[in-house]
Amino acid sequence: LSSIEVDISGVQVGQAITVKWRGKPVFIRHRTPEEIAAAKKDDPQVDPANPKVIVANPAGLRDPQTDASRVQKPEWLILVGVCTHLGCVPLGQKASDPRGEYGGWYCPCHGSQYDTSGRIRKGPAPLDLEVPLYAFETDTTVKIG
Ligand code: FES
Repeated sequence: LSSIEVDISGVQVGQAITVKWRGKPVFIRHRTPEEIAAAKKDDPQVDPANPKVIVANPAGLRDPQTDASRVQKPEWLILVGVCTHLGCVPLGQKASDPRGEYGGWYCPCHGSQYDTSGRIRKGPAPLDLEVPLYAFETDTTVKIG
């Protein structure tokens, strides 16, 4: 299967689910207003004429991307749940999991830490967690792939 449809109607604010897509875990987190604000607070600045061009990176993001460029709807963060260091599955899907200093995900293999936008903040991983291809088919159904 190259794409899957996921019903997200039961995922409450602050909860997350993991689904399998092309053999990989995909994290779907229903972010809280605090998580969204934390993600935006450290955004790099973009060129107003071309929002894809980063002009300043005050938070020193290793792989600078704005939160808005990584989400289609601020409350839904959808990521491939594979650490960009050596491919472990980061922890953070359950509220009781360690989430690292930035409130996102913590990789138990070598300690990489991701923020509430899935951006790499600390540890050996070089890149942000990947955002898969996805589209909202309805308010409660998302197609991944
Ligand atoms: Fe995640 Fe090494 S695989 S930190």
